[in-house]
Amino acid sequence: MNELTEILNRKELSRNDIIYLLSLEDKASLDSLYKKAYETKVKYVEKKVFFRGIIEFSNICAKNCYYCGIRKDNKKVKRFMMTEAEILEGAKWAYQSGYGSLVLQAGERMDEHFVDLVEKILIDIKRISDNKLGITLSLGEQMPETYRRWFAAGAHRYLLRIETSNIELYRSLHPADHDFNFRFECIRQLRKIGYQVGTGVMIGLPGQTIEHLADDILFMKNNDVDMIGMGPFIPHKDTPLADSLGNFEEKKQSQLELGLKMIAVARLFLKDVNIAATTALQSLNRVGRELGLQAGANIIMPNITDTKYRDAYQLYDNKPCLDENSTICKQCLKNRIATLGETIGYNEWGDSPHFLEKNKC
Ligand code: 5AD
Ligand code: SF4
Ligand code: FES
Repeated sequence: MNELTEILNRKELSRNDIIYLLSLEDKASLDSLYKKAYETKVKYVEKKVFFRGIIEFSNICAKNCYYCGIRKDNKKVKRFMMTEAEILEGAKWAYQSGYGSLVLQAGERMDEHFVDLVEKILIDIKRISDNKLGITLSLGEQMPETYRRWFAAGAHRYLLRIETSNIELYRSLHPADHDFNFRFECIRQLRKIGYQVGTGVMIGLPGQTIEHLADDILFMKNNDVDMIGMGPFIPHKDTPLADSLGNFEEKKQSQLELGLKMIAVARLFLKDVNIAATTALQSLNRVGRELGLQAGANIIMPNITDTKYRDAYQLYDNKPCLDENSTICKQCLKNRIATLGETIGYNEWGDSPHFLEKNKC
């Protein structure tokens, strides 16, 4: 048996195994890795994709992450905040379209007005969907009391990417007042309150090594996450990291590949969690999300934001689906998933088996 086969057949991967797998480059080895990850996915989470319709309801952000296109200091972005009626309209569409759950994402704000508004929207979404639509929030760092209020109002999952589990790398990507430890504490609080917790990282960041990425996978396991949302870093032209990877056209393929390897290894290592095939994969390759599903992901987050706002919500360049609407994306994804021979879990929350197992009486 060669070394790769031996590693792929191990029950538990070590840090060195993870580093080995993330370093693979030749096509035959990568195919074996993806194949094994796909088998693991089918075994633990079936051949079923769950949709989380995402509404990116505001690009107003109080923070200044160096990599992000809607960072506060990017004056070229026209800021918007959808009205409550527009957000509810989107939620209604998701519900009627059989999307079992919804993600509400926006730039980060901790002000009282925002906290109250989100609370009200959560209550209203639950009301109009007969309590049936699951709601995931992706609204960044907040005070524990805010997380508690939003949980009580009906949110049951929260996505907060740690971005990188390496504190020095984190510091190199954020201004000094963006605090890694506070972010980490938020993840702990979310779990304590009872949310299903998702985290993730950006992949292929300037200064990031394979060892950092291996530690990111260990971080996710050690923190017992239920969901993973991670994707390749894609430079945005109006940010301090615009040129940080040199000529990005030449890097697209390796960024995509690294993103797929991370999904595959995360599937092999964490087994029964939900893993998203993120939109960032698709901006690198026309079929990037399908490749993500084939490498072990089982979640897709179709954009259901009103088309008129999509242009202003670009965290990275070349974001797909800017001119399409929710109905076009729904049909498009349905066709794409059918080509893979997978089914779509309509009208189901699709909680990760990992979460369900932990919460069994
Ligand atoms: N490339 C890829 N992902 C990005 N994000 C922000 N900026 C970029 C970028 N340039 C991701 C971050 C954040 C999520 C909402 O979007 O990981 O947590
Ligand atoms: Fe704001 Fe999130 Fe972008 Fe950072 S990554 S600037 S917190 S929207
Ligand atoms: Fe939006 Fe394909 S998912 S057009």
